[in-house]
Amino acid sequence: MVINAKILIPVFIAILGIYMMPAILATFYSPHTIESSSDARDLKCISCHDYIAREFNSSDESRRVLDKHAAAANNINYTTFLKYGYHYNISEGRIYTTKNTSTWDLGASADPASYIYWEPSLGWWIDNRAGTMQLASVNLENNGIQGIQLEEICLFCHSSDILGVSTHTSVSVTGCTDIKCHGNSSGTGYGKEFYTTVMTGYNLSSNNVHARWFKAMGNTSSPYNYTVHGDSHVSSDYLTCIGCHTYTRVSLNITSPEKYMHNDFNTAKIRYQ
Ligand code: HEC
Ligand code: HEC
Ligand code: HEC
Repeated sequence: MVINAKILIPVFIAILGIYMMPAILATFYSPHTIESSSDARDLKCISCHDYIAREFNSSDESRRVLDKHAAAANNINYTTFLKYGYHYNISEGRIYTTKNTSTWDLGASADPASYIYWEPSLGWWIDNRAGTMQLASVNLENNGIQGIQLEEICLFCHSSDILGVSTHTSVSVTGCTDIKCHGNSSGTGYGKEFYTTVMTGYNLSSNNVHARWFKAMGNTSSPYNYTVHGDSHVSSDYLTCIGCHTYTRVSLNITSPEKYMHNDFNTAKIRYQ
């Protein structure tokens, strides 16, 4: 049989084209398809940070921690409080705020004239602070499926909007010891109307065998060197929580306390520290 080159060459080019075209398209197509994003909620965190979602799902225990935070993220009263609130009065249906953001975390009283309130007919929190009515609810639900899933949970802890930090990507990091979360050496968390573990950071810094470790970390500056909620600096104390509650590697330099002389009646009585 005589092979006709006139037929073979176009067939060869067609076959080559079928194989090469997807690669060529993949190389040249996507960079020009710019997605505009006005909100961190448009970002698909898990497409890039899949490993984080897998870590959360790696055991029943880690899944439990994720579920607890997902429940908190699904509570609009709490997410709204996280962004604006200083004190939540459930019987009045008000989240008290403070006009002066520099007093956020300094134990100053909430301003009785400055609050947001729940409007049942709208099912929203309303902001009356500057005399201008506006909707104030912070709702992390974004994908149309009821409840909190996937990236919605990421933004519970990472939303710059909630933390009051200005960034290009609208994503920031704060620690577990944020005053709106589990609290720190200088104060219990403010969210006691929502859950009991607001005391964790405070308890860890006082009256506790691990207090020295926790407080030493609090005196170290954080890799995330900025202030959240107007005035609270992110310190490294939260790494202590991560040290105990994850499999992350911890490098400790433990200084032993002075020995207690059990056989000497006159030795000053002290607690174990
Ligand atoms: C297109 C990929 C991509 C998407 C989508 C994405 N990220 Fe990232 N993210 C990155 C890369 C790459 C880095 C590492 C940057 C670096 O090393 O400085 C990063 C870093 C981070 C960090 C660490 C910042 C630091 O200083 O350590 C956080 C937190 C984070 N991303 C959260 C998120 C969250 C939450 C979302 C979704 C709302 C998201 N990212 C969406 C690619 C992405
Ligand atoms: C319960 C709060 C919480 C949730 C939920 C959460 N993060 Fe984080 N994330 C943190 C904290 C705290 C850090 C800082 C950890 C550190 O300093 O080592 C962090 C660090 C990161 C980092 C940087 C460090 C790294 O390991 O790469 C990325 C990226 C990140 N988170 C992405 C995500 C994504 C994506 C999700 C959702 C799947 C998510 N986070 C959900 C609290 C959270
Ligand atoms: C020295 C190790 C250690 C450190 C540091 C530590 N934890 Fe814990 N945590 C534990 C242990 C152990 C338990 C279980 C205690 C119990 O059941 O009484 C626990 C329990 C908890 C619980 C309750 C869990 C539940 O299901 O009710 C929360 C929430 C918690 N820790 C958060 C934190 C936070 C936030 C920090 C940092 C401020 C922190 N932990 C620091 C060891 C630690």
